[in-house]
Amino acid sequence: MGSIGTEDLQRTEKPTFPGEANTLEYAKSLDSKDHLRLFRQQFKIPSKPNIKATKLVKQEQSDDPCIYFCGNSLGLQPRAVPEFIQTQLDTWSTIGVHGHFRQLEDSPLSQWQLLAEHAAARCAPIVGAATSEVAIMGTLTMNLHLLMASFYLPTATKNKIILDWKAFPSDHFAIESQIRGHGYNPDDAMTVIGPEEGEYEVSTESILKVIDEHASTAALILLPGIQYYTGQLFDIKTVTAYAQSKGLIVGWDLAHAAGNVPLQLHDWNVDFAAWCTYKYMNAGPGSIAGLYVHERHGTVDYSQDAQKPVFRHRLSGWYGGDQAGRMNMDNHFRPSPGASGYQVSNPSVIDLASLCGALSVFNQTSMSSLRLKSVSITAYLEFLLLFNTDAPTRAFRIITPSNHEARGTQLSVLLKPGRLEILMEMLDEAGIVVDKRKPNVIRVTPVPLYNTYEEVWRFVQIFKKALERCE
Ligand SMILES: Cc1ncc(COP(=O)(O)O)c(C=O)c1O
Repeated sequence: MGSIGTEDLQRTEKPTFPGEANTLEYAKSLDSKDHLRLFRQQFKIPSKPNIKATKLVKQEQSDDPCIYFCGNSLGLQPRAVPEFIQTQLDTWSTIGVHGHFRQLEDSPLSQWQLLAEHAAARCAPIVGAATSEVAIMGTLTMNLHLLMASFYLPTATKNKIILDWKAFPSDHFAIESQIRGHGYNPDDAMTVIGPEEGEYEVSTESILKVIDEHASTAALILLPGIQYYTGQLFDIKTVTAYAQSKGLIVGWDLAHAAGNVPLQLHDWNVDFAAWCTYKYMNAGPGSIAGLYVHERHGTVDYSQDAQKPVFRHRLSGWYGGDQAGRMNMDNHFRPSPGASGYQVSNPSVIDLASLCGALSVFNQTSMSSLRLKSVSITAYLEFLLLFNTDAPTRAFRIITPSNHEARGTQLSVLLKPGRLEILMEMLDEAGIVVDKRKPNVIRVTPVPLYNTYEEVWRFVQIFKKALERCE
């Protein structure tokens, strides 16, 4: 995947649609022009009968695919994933422990000792980082803890962490426990950024204002790149630069942004970031995660003392050790330069194979190409939702920003009370998968790699019927 001109991508025009776009024919015509349409074949799309299965199904029972708009939660399975995993199982069963250091000809994967770096190289362009700034390891919340162990260095006067009003609960717990672990009180040290009363979108101005107010007492700002509940994409570049200019360390949880929107973590000078790979990267439930640290935080300096390198504090383990000396077993920690020096343990090669399989699909395209369709298909969903319902009596509100530059591919729809269960029942009946966030929000996510405009059109027909039934 080539380098991504994110500045240009963010400016991708949001398309407008004529009234006749509200037809199945129009949706199909959009599909026929879709530059990514062939990617769908690279995924296993559950069938309508299978998606309701309560028994393990080994064979597809039908070729009638469900409509899957849940990639914001768990991406669908790329066909490459079982192939890559099988390759790894074959390697293990044929050469056993030699798989650690022996590169097999014809394998799409590297020897196990280099596999995390191999995966990092494939992930780095997706997040706009150098390969050496990415480590593939652990899970998202664990990585956030490890990163905070390095980057949250509170003092008696500067110990606050600024976070988002709807930080994912796991992030909230992680932040709370880090603060407690340092002996501070989360009630005093957690500063929350939120929208205006009755609103959902958090303006960049209000974030900068909170930074101004708390800069002298805050040590860290940790925000989501995309907010899981509203789908809002924050202005990572502006917030990062501003917070750093006020002396804060800046970290981002990119669970909903990585693989969804173009990112330029290095150029935006982000200090650290972490993401999971089971959403837009499609590597499977609970799959191995990714983290980024800017190159300046990964330096290992031997200039003062060849035996005692100087490097940023981290919670260490042997896999953070330089590969040349990792197996020396001499109890001298010499970290690998870059993000790989933040690794702790021997990673699961099965997990890494799954991720590499998933990324092999991404690596056939680019984030700019994905972004083009993402902006368009989400705008089409928004258009159909609004076109098919009368504004004065509309029983829902789209709480994702209408500005496409402030969102990814997900739309969050807030329903008036009493509609959610009926809607979910009817969608389920029709073999359409979206997710709900109680009490009244559904998140609908057309993923550019495998969803179609026709599916968007079909979803909106059921959505409309469900709301009519509720009236
Ligand atoms: C924004 C965000 N942060 C953190 C998490 C927790 O991730 P994990 O369970 O992989 O640590 C999730 C999970 O969906 C998430 O959406």
